[in-house]
Amino acid sequence: MKLNGSDYHRPDVQHNNSLTTMTILDGKKVSNDIKDEITAEVKKMKDNGEKVPHLAAVIVGNDGASLTYVGSKVRACERVGFESTMVRLSNTTSEIELLDKIEELNNNEDIDGFIIQLPLPPQINTQKVLMAVHPDKDVDGFHPMNFGKMALDMSTFIPATPFGILELLDRYNVDTKGKHTVVIGRSHIVGRPMSILMGRKGFPGNSTVTLTHSHTKNITQIISQADIVISALGVPNFLKAEMVKDDAVIIDVGITRVPDETLPKGYKITGDVDFENVSKKASYITPVPGGVGPMTIAMLLKNTLLARERHRLL
Ligand code: GUN
Repeated sequence: MKLNGSDYHRPDVQHNNSLTTMTILDGKKVSNDIKDEITAEVKKMKDNGEKVPHLAAVIVGNDGASLTYVGSKVRACERVGFESTMVRLSNTTSEIELLDKIEELNNNEDIDGFIIQLPLPPQINTQKVLMAVHPDKDVDGFHPMNFGKMALDMSTFIPATPFGILELLDRYNVDTKGKHTVVIGRSHIVGRPMSILMGRKGFPGNSTVTLTHSHTKNITQIISQADIVISALGVPNFLKAEMVKDDAVIIDVGITRVPDETLPKGYKITGDVDFENVSKKASYITPVPGGVGPMTIAMLLKNTLLARERHRLL
């Protein structure tokens, strides 16, 4: 199975007497295209003697996955020519200490945008922290003001993972109008915003959305009626081929570390979707890794570029 080619056609597979073609939504390729576009913008800024965008990332504690993600975000900044700052705080950091750091970043004119990597240790109230980030620097789009603007179709920072999914659907011209989109999982970072965005006017959007979660009854029946499935559950191989209809569009947001001693890292990244079998029925599908994951980072960079442009105009 070819995972990284942008278009992987399987004209050999037939369903309902129609010739089905399956396309891999190649997040690795598209995210590289976006990074190239941003690099060109940054070059123009430099050539004009302008300040380049500066992203800061705050990480509290030593969670392995969070450190990996933040490391990738910092490397991506270097790749496109942004400045970046990583702020590392100990696992025992108090809420007040973190709020002080946020105030410092809010007031630092050199920093265009910053993120607080989640999850935070239990002594810290996440909502309180996210509300302390100045909305103009909130490149994660998690502040209630930005989240509200998103729901009201106003210009704002859209959370990076949902933004990345929209961008993939857009660049592959996946039809969403009038389709039934089923979102699995209602997290504040992915499921909830995704359910709002897919129902908004415009493209990608104009979908009829069902947001499913742990209390949803008949979830398999609902999924079987979906034209588009967006799975953000974090349960490896949850979505099986027999659960989806022919030609469905499958977006896999799962990135669970599953122990695998045969690999040097000792784990492998596994999505929510049984890719091997679901891909035989899908019209479009995102692989894991190489699908939604790299898009998240590219869209964080895009939001940081947007923050810089806005600050320049202030
Ligand atoms: N933890 C998991 N995903 C994200 C994200 O998109 N942003 C932040 N800040 N933390 C996360």
